[in-house]
Amino acid sequence: MKVTMGRAGGLARERAPLLALLLTSDDPTPAWLSAELKVVVKVSVAVKDFIGKELESVFVYRGAQRVVLVGLGDAKKVKAETLRRAAGAAARRARALKVESIAIAGAAHAVAPYEAGRALAEGAQLGAYAFHGSKSEKPPTPVRVATIHWSGRGGATFVEGLRVGTVTGGAQCFARDLGNQPANIATPTWLANQAARALRGRGVRMKVVRKGELERRGYGGVLGVARGSHEPPLFMEFEWRPRSYKKTVCLVGKGLTFDSGGISLKPAANMEEMKFDMCGGAAVIGAFAALAELKPKVRVIGLVPSTENMPGGSAIKPGDVLTTYGGITVEVINTDAEGRLILADALGRAKEFEPDYTVDLATLTGACVVALGHRASGLFCANDDFTKRLREAGDVAGERLWPLPLWDDYLDEMKSPVADLKNSGSRFGGAVTAAAFLKKFAGDLNWAHLDIAGTAWDTPRNELYEGGASGVGVRMLVRFIEALE
Ligand code: BES
Ligand code: MN
Ligand code: ZN
Repeated sequence: MKVTMGRAGGLARERAPLLALLLTSDDPTPAWLSAELKVVVKVSVAVKDFIGKELESVFVYRGAQRVVLVGLGDAKKVKAETLRRAAGAAARRARALKVESIAIAGAAHAVAPYEAGRALAEGAQLGAYAFHGSKSEKPPTPVRVATIHWSGRGGATFVEGLRVGTVTGGAQCFARDLGNQPANIATPTWLANQAARALRGRGVRMKVVRKGELERRGYGGVLGVARGSHEPPLFMEFEWRPRSYKKTVCLVGKGLTFDSGGISLKPAANMEEMKFDMCGGAAVIGAFAALAELKPKVRVIGLVPSTENMPGGSAIKPGDVLTTYGGITVEVINTDAEGRLILADALGRAKEFEPDYTVDLATLTGACVVALGHRASGLFCANDDFTKRLREAGDVAGERLWPLPLWDDYLDEMKSPVADLKNSGSRFGGAVTAAAFLKKFAGDLNWAHLDIAGTAWDTPRNELYEGGASGVGVRMLVRFIEALE
């Protein structure tokens, strides 16, 4: 979607097939409305169909033009998230009406102009998002253009916010597309091809390490998990290296394109959701799609190990021992605890880039969903400054992170009689034991682990999301990296 600034004073003459007016409850007919639009709004206000309550919406007409009024609530309390969702509501309406362009008008003095622009552009992209998949009916008309009429200070920074938000919102939609594709289409090979198509030739270096090289280099975790599948595994490496930079960040994403559980087979109920087990990888690829455009002065490495976890005849069996990249050995007690096996390889590889910060994103444990539900990702990090940076990035981006402990003694239950570690412990504290396991492989890295099992799909429906993959992580990661510039 293209998001552009409308001409100054152009609102009165705006002829987009759908016009969205974002209005506060204190002053639902503000001065920036044209006289004609004021009349339109006043009718709804007079009959109390619309009072400007946060995210309420009313549909009216100005002659032949459709107009949707979206409430922002109390002017002093408007937040970036309010604007994001208000723009999302407007864009969703445009999609429902099958119109190709929308105009959004408003003002919000409580939100800095840059943040307002960014939130509006992100909201418009996310609200308009739809995954058509493989339905044989013709896909509905996409919303191609959003024109923004914004009243108030900070013109240039507002426009810059629009530009950045268009990029981050678009990148998140891309991550959603990757996640929503069924696993017979979205194989590791397909995922790498999609990443290459999106990133190659745009300043991001991409390398795909295939099976033979994984074998030669000793990626025992990825290869072990892949053994039960006919789909060849691979390991994606991305690098954004600006001319000058001070910090290196490494992003690691679990790219498990289907998790059947392997020989420790999952129950049939809801197993189809395990196509989403690559959403950590999708978040990393999506973040790179944004970085390729935004070109921050931070070096960024991306590592996405990708495979299926299937119970084929050659599959790894409980009791098998794998040697991960870097040499740490693992006894596989449960083949369904496969995410940590492929992440073990990736964290081993991450060390070689000597990053200042390493973040992994993984749909790692059902236990994290039990702990936090679908409204926050679990954050495991031993460094307070890093924790703070990530949480701030999550808060401004509207992707909440909540700290959970990284305590070594949780590893006591993962001692193996035959290897350095075993890959699963007791039934309890599963998110924490998984993180403790990963810590062993992160070693001296300044590292954070995000368990996105609860947030990568099936999160609460709202103006920005109506099911399927959420694309969680993209906006937060971009914010985190920008703040290091
Ligand atoms: N991909 C799953 C985690 C998952 C399960 C995410 C359900 C979202 C919803 C992961 O590979 C897994 O199977 N984890 C096991 C670990 C256990 C066997 C130690 C789990 O959480 O049950
Ligand atoms: Mn699993
Ligand atoms: Zn998994």
